[in-house]
Amino acid sequence: MYPQSFSLDDGTTVRFKEETSEDLESVWGLYSTLSVESRKTLPPINRNLIELWSRSLPNYAFKPVLVSVDERGGERIIGRASLTHDASPASKHRAEFGIVVHDDYQGRGVGSNLSLFMVHVARSKGLRKLTLDVFADNQRAIHVFEACGYIKEGLFPDHYWFRGRFHDVIRMGQAL
Ligand SMILES: CC(C)(COP(=O)(O)OP(=O)(O)OC[C@H]1O[C@@H](n2cnc3c(N)ncnc32)[C@H](O)[C@@H]1OP(=O)(O)O)[C@@H](O)C(=O)NCCC(=O)NCCS
Repeated sequence: MYPQSFSLDDGTTVRFKEETSEDLESVWGLYSTLSVESRKTLPPINRNLIELWSRSLPNYAFKPVLVSVDERGGERIIGRASLTHDASPASKHRAEFGIVVHDDYQGRGVGSNLSLFMVHVARSKGLRKLTLDVFADNQRAIHVFEACGYIKEGLFPDHYWFRGRFHDVIRMGQAL
């Protein structure tokens, strides 16, 4: 079985778990405190959207995976990854990967471990391909994704508008 937890350099235990409706407040805590930079590829985040995501959980073919640590105040959700799936015959072999790690925990190995974990989840569910879109200047994310097996499949010029200008996007994918 693939490891469900790992340790940070300081010994903190980081755990993965499937999201349930009971995680609503923790997920809101994660998204409502992200920096603008970390939210730039996400839709505008508000309470209604997070509640909609929570209510939609029963409809998801693949449940999002949450990353948690124990802090003084109790368990805290510090990351979330999703596999968005389209069940139509032409697309059901693949899923779109999405990931965010809270700013407080970025750069400590959480994103790499979570990305690898999601590759394992996708394989174990019988998917044949994962795809994702990433800002072309998001070098950290691209580094993490390449280390987890993704390759660059294409460039979409001026694909997103953020902070007063258009940004190129790179489509990445990996065969499983
Ligand atoms: C992208 C993201 C998921 C990565 O997670 P993370 O926990 O910060 O990443 P990790 O600590 O596991 O790994 C970071 C790696 O990038 C490398 N890195 C850091 N800055 C870098 C840079 N400017 N250029 C290239 N590599 C860089 C680190 O050295 C490390 O690589 P290593 O493990 O080989 O040493 C996280 O930063 C995040 O959520 N960012 C905001 C949202 C986002 O960009 N999501 C992806 C949208 S597609």
